[in-house]
Amino acid sequence: MSEAAKNDARTEPAENEPRQGAIVVSGLRPTGKVHLGNYWGAVKNWVDLQQKFRCHYFIADIHALTTAYSDSSGVREATLEAAKDILASGLDPETSVFFLQSRVPQHSELAVLFGMLTPLGWLERVPTFKEQQEQLKDRDLNTHGFLGYPVLMTADVALYLAEYVPVGKDQESHLEIAREIVRRFNGFYGDVFPEPLPLFTPSPKVPGLDGRKMSKSYDNTIALSSTPEEVKTKVMSMVTDPARARRTDPGNPENCNLFPFHVLYSPADEVAVVDQECRTAARGCVDCKKHLIKNMNAGLEPIRDRRARLDSNPSLVTDILEEGSARARDLAQETMRKVTGAMGLLAG
Ligand code: TRP
Ligand code: SF4
Repeated sequence: MSEAAKNDARTEPAENEPRQGAIVVSGLRPTGKVHLGNYWGAVKNWVDLQQKFRCHYFIADIHALTTAYSDSSGVREATLEAAKDILASGLDPETSVFFLQSRVPQHSELAVLFGMLTPLGWLERVPTFKEQQEQLKDRDLNTHGFLGYPVLMTADVALYLAEYVPVGKDQESHLEIAREIVRRFNGFYGDVFPEPLPLFTPSPKVPGLDGRKMSKSYDNTIALSSTPEEVKTKVMSMVTDPARARRTDPGNPENCNLFPFHVLYSPADEVAVVDQECRTAARGCVDCKKHLIKNMNAGLEPIRDRRARLDSNPSLVTDILEEGSARARDLAQETMRKVTGAMGLLAG
């Protein structure tokens, strides 16, 4: 491909289909077991992208420390849980580079170098900076690490020369900063990095059991690795259309937290029946829930099987992460040679 064509591919809006073989990088902050919100919002997309692009996926365990620094005792366990769930979801560690952020020291190295050229104002203006400080009032987030969150994230993707970064909309401002930092670097030292574009997940919003966004902090999640019994209990506890006070009251799937899950787990013809029977009160919510439980358990079964195999062999996950991290270090080392050279450091 010519240089011009390459540049075109990089500056294309993310809505356009990126070219085959483009470099894709994304990370997941480990918060414990992957839940259905994480799965449909990120992990499934990672899995789907791996055939067409050169994918690099990692567990952002250093990023976990930006908020969990004072009690980091859960990070190791959360990291292993996340890694198992991601592999169980179908991430293929042969096809994609799958690794642990903290096992590739170049992430920290490049973040320090990017920090030299990142104006404080850019970081202070990131909307998530103030928002998260407001939300997580129980801890002091006036730290260098928390302010520098987007700098580390820029290093995460730039290290592999990322062109596309699959993320949720909530990460848009971080990606904007990443492009600005990279542009500033290229301006000072010459073209080293492509400007990474977000690749927004085409996923539906997954509601939690209570109808708010599914999130660990709301305690309204369904874990991807739930047992069939757990799925049953959780679905049975879901809030449905409040207009259906009596069995004979017609409902509206648009006001029901259950319905989006039918869309995700039931075949299209069954979804149409659910919709129609809900609106005419031909079905009750309890039957509708039982129907969903069956389809959801069938959909989760293959993931559960793979997860059980990983659970029965504890060193498998750490071996996979270790091998992936070694591959990542080789790629990262290559980039760091270019970086130190371009910046005029003696190393490289
Ligand atoms: N900030 C991301 C989140 O909270 C996680 C993350 C860290 C990430 N580094 C990344 C995502 C690099 C994409 C690319 O979801
Ligand atoms: Fe929701 Fe189904 Fe009840 Fe309609 S019938 S409100 S879709 S649970």
